[in-house]
Amino acid sequence: MIDTIAHTRDMNLQLKSGGNALHILKSITFAIRPGEVMSIVGPSGSGKTSLLMVLGGLEKASDGQVSVGGTSLSGLSEDQLAEVRRNNIGILFQNFHLIPSMTALENVALALEIAFDDMPVSEITERARKALADVGLAARETHLPSALSGGEQQRVGLARAIVTRPKLLLADEPTGNLDQETAATAIELLFDLAHRNDMAVLLITHDNVLAQRADRRMRMDHGMLSEIELASA
Ligand SMILES: Nc1ncnc2c1ncn2[C@@H]1O[C@H](COP(=O)(O)OP(=O)(O)O)[C@@H](O)[C@H]1O
Ligand SMILES: [Mg+2]
Repeated sequence: MIDTIAHTRDMNLQLKSGGNALHILKSITFAIRPGEVMSIVGPSGSGKTSLLMVLGGLEKASDGQVSVGGTSLSGLSEDQLAEVRRNNIGILFQNFHLIPSMTALENVALALEIAFDDMPVSEITERARKALADVGLAARETHLPSALSGGEQQRVGLARAIVTRPKLLLADEPTGNLDQETAATAIELLFDLAHRNDMAVLLITHDNVLAQRADRRMRMDHGMLSEIELASA
């Protein structure tokens, strides 16, 4: 097998909705390698978020293979899925999902406490501070989310996503709530962190300009995933 951080083979996702069977993801075969930065564009409702949910072990494929960090996800218990997630996956959301009553540092530290409940507090604090510094927010440790700009809040979200040192970062329209310039800066930072830490990124975005900065570009259409050839760009 080639060295991949995640791959699928003939993977389908079907869901039942009010008696109807919906075929959400259709025979998806793809692989993302360590350190590879990949973007996915495609219309609303085409299945992009669903694919991230399957790769993150949050949604179970109906059939086909899904493998993350060298482990096949089929037949795993919730606890086993959580462990695969903890050892491999970081998630970056569009709406930041920061806890309003916690400082930037506490938000980042919480992710580590949840993932590694036996980690000493001193190490948690040290790693959380480093993650905030990595996203350029060393001077904002004690700020509450409400005292941060949208771009800063998303950088706290990024620090929280990388503090567990994931091998694969799943980012679902992380710049959807940012203006164009802030979005471009955020993506620059994200790609820079990915390349420096050999972290693979699967970036869903509506923004074709941002998508083009990825090493590889994919498109989702009606549940089918295809590669966008560079020659046609
Ligand atoms: N839990 C669910 N139950 C039923 N249908 C769903 C569910 N989640 C998503 N869908 C449907 O699956 C399709 C793909 O959704 P999604 O993956 O969120 O698309 P995208 O992220 O590309 O906008 C949509 O038609 C959506 O309505
Ligand atoms: Mg979506």
